[in-house]
Amino acid sequence: MEFLVNTQNLTTLSTGTLVLALSQDKPLSANVQSVDQASNGALSKILARGDFTGKAGQTLLLQDIAGIQAERLLLVGLGKDDELSDHAARKTIKAITAVLKGLAAKDATLALDALAIKQRNAYSITRLVADTLHHYLYRFDQFKSEKTPVPTLLKVQFHANTATQKDIDRALKQATAISKGVDLTRTLGDMPANICHPSYLAEQAEQLAKEYSALSVEVLDEKELKKLGANALLAVAQGSDQPPRLIIMKYQGAAASEQPYVLLGKGITFDTGGICLKPGPGMDEMKYDMCGAATVIGSMKAALELQLPINLIGVMTCAENMPSSNATRPGDIVTTMSGQTVEILNTDAEGRLVLCDALTYIERFKPKAVVDIATLTGACMVALGTQTSGLMGNDQNLIEQLLKAGNNADDRAWQLPLFDVYQEQLDSPFADMGNIGGRFGGTITAGCFLSRFAKAYPWAHLDVAGTAWTSGEKKGATGRPVPLLMQYLLDQTL
Ligand code: BES
Ligand code: MN
Ligand code: ZN
Repeated sequence: MEFLVNTQNLTTLSTGTLVLALSQDKPLSANVQSVDQASNGALSKILARGDFTGKAGQTLLLQDIAGIQAERLLLVGLGKDDELSDHAARKTIKAITAVLKGLAAKDATLALDALAIKQRNAYSITRLVADTLHHYLYRFDQFKSEKTPVPTLLKVQFHANTATQKDIDRALKQATAISKGVDLTRTLGDMPANICHPSYLAEQAEQLAKEYSALSVEVLDEKELKKLGANALLAVAQGSDQPPRLIIMKYQGAAASEQPYVLLGKGITFDTGGICLKPGPGMDEMKYDMCGAATVIGSMKAALELQLPINLIGVMTCAENMPSSNATRPGDIVTTMSGQTVEILNTDAEGRLVLCDALTYIERFKPKAVVDIATLTGACMVALGTQTSGLMGNDQNLIEQLLKAGNNADDRAWQLPLFDVYQEQLDSPFADMGNIGGRFGGTITAGCFLSRFAKAYPWAHLDVAGTAWTSGEKKGATGRPVPLLMQYLLDQTL
């Protein structure tokens, strides 16, 4: 999908579908008035008839309106809400996308001057609209014999005036770059685990490095991981025939002397729970347990597309968690790369084990800041639901920047405390720590565990167990938190 800015006069503009947004309680916008005048009052007549009230999400498709050049005119209701929320705006864009997808038109022009989202300017509204449009055009049907029909829509123009043109253009370029990353993240997330295993993710990274010369990739295999003493990562992988991989992607967009930002993703390509086997129902969704890693590679792609003037390192720490005669047993003790010992009391708390060695490994990069992303705890869904990611860390400034980025990208996170009183829950009688912290505060004690390996740099942890994919009828990867992370990185370049 191509997004372009257009400043032509709405009434003389040739387009497949002209989309006009109408508010329910505000006077007709300048756009609507100009179309109404050109069509000799056709719009006011329709509105007076009462079929279209401007109710939120309401759509009315009109054909061949005299006086304008557009083939079709799509009216879209914004509702009464004076204070239009992000969520309400997204629902409206979803309704628009549903109509556009079914039309034979190759292009559409959005005239959304009435879409005034609370606390957003033209730039930020455009980002949200383009992001949402793109979101609802995603398909994953490569394993279906019968493919979803490819929409004929190829181009969406965003109508602007001379005052907003520059901002809208910039927003569209950024949204396009970010959505390429989001798409990669979603596709890898939706990929079944019999295809998407650790070596497959390594191949994806190598493929990306072929496409973009600013990216270099290094893949560490079992032998190298043993040499490094990545025994926690190896302990998770040892029950599986699929070998683990630590995948390092380096993007250089600034002077080599600049400290890099590091993104680290949990890449459990399937989480059975290991010997502490998970129950059967819904276990298929544990193919999504690599969404942290998928977020990292997607963010690398977006950064490459944006040509961000920063140095960025993406690390995916990948293994498959399986039960077998070689699998780690509850009670096994490993010495992590950091030298700290861990009693693995629950083999299903494997995410923190693959992350802890990677957190130690990345010390060598002397990071400016580290953000890890992981589908780490079911408890995070209990605490925050499926709308909001959990956020913890050792640097309040970093956390606040991430919270702000999440608000701006409408990809929100919420901070949970890492008070040191929680640390005691990890005590083990036999090792430096256990890998579980008991029944209460599961997301926090997981964060506490990670914090013990992240002392060398400013660090934040995003628990995306609830947000990385949706369950049920519309099951699928969301691409979150790529938008949050890209907003954070964009903010660093201002
Ligand atoms: N990948 C899971 C967390 C998860 C579960 C994410 C369900 C999304 C949906 C993780 O590896 C896990 O199994 N965590 C355990 C930790 C527990 C054993 C301390 C959990 O949340 O039950
Ligand atoms: Mn698990
Ligand atoms: Zn897991």
